[in-house]
Amino acid sequence: MAKLIKEVLIKENIKIATDIYKMALEDVQIAKSADIGMFINIYPKDSKLLLPRPISISEISDKTITIIYQVVGDGTNELSMYKVGDKIRISSALGHGYKIQNVDTHILVGGGIGVPPLVELAKRIPNKKIAVLGFRNEPILIDRLKEAGAEVYIATESGRVGFKGNVIELLKDKGIYGDYYYACGSKGMLKAIKKYCAEIGKEIQLSLEERMGCGYGACVGCVAKVDGKNAKICVEGPVFIGDKVTLS
Ligand code: FES
Repeated sequence: MAKLIKEVLIKENIKIATDIYKMALEDVQIAKSADIGMFINIYPKDSKLLLPRPISISEISDKTITIIYQVVGDGTNELSMYKVGDKIRISSALGHGYKIQNVDTHILVGGGIGVPPLVELAKRIPNKKIAVLGFRNEPILIDRLKEAGAEVYIATESGRVGFKGNVIELLKDKGIYGDYYYACGSKGMLKAIKKYCAEIGKEIQLSLEERMGCGYGACVGCVAKVDGKNAKICVEGPVFIGDKVTLS
């Protein structure tokens, strides 16, 4: 499907945690363009904001896509002000997402605002899936992952909810082990889980979306070394096989 930018209807825009919002957007054509681990660009109305905001897709239905975003600046603050029934301009789904492998047990590792794309991934995995999630303090989307059939384990840095520590410590502490791994989160978390998977000899798919800027190939702010060559994460990713990507 060719890249498309169009005005779509906001069906939901609610706060789900501190500075974190869930927005459902209705458009059949764009929903059809979406697949797990892809992202959309949102074009803010504020003319001072020149670049669109790339945001990963959390859930996909026949008519809608759902995104989870964190208010971190003017663009995302504008998003949080929209009401149901308002319209915004977005792109069709972009990038290359996760590929589900044919194995017995899938491990989904997410950190903070990297957790959202794991919800649709969990929904599409037909067999056993375990989500191992790390947060600073406040977990999100736990119910959605459970409804998607995932067994869920939580770590928080503060120890306020679940295990006190990070996702690697949690995997080791609970003896959680699978045949194939998928991850999305901060660069620090991705580096740690990539190293862990290399140690246990398992392949992992990493979503590097944290490093995106414009989301459409213009800013060159998203380059990663993949197979020894420079790759634009927004065009060739955001999901890459862990072994192939160098995380500096
Ligand atoms: Fe701007 Fe990729 S995010 S070129």
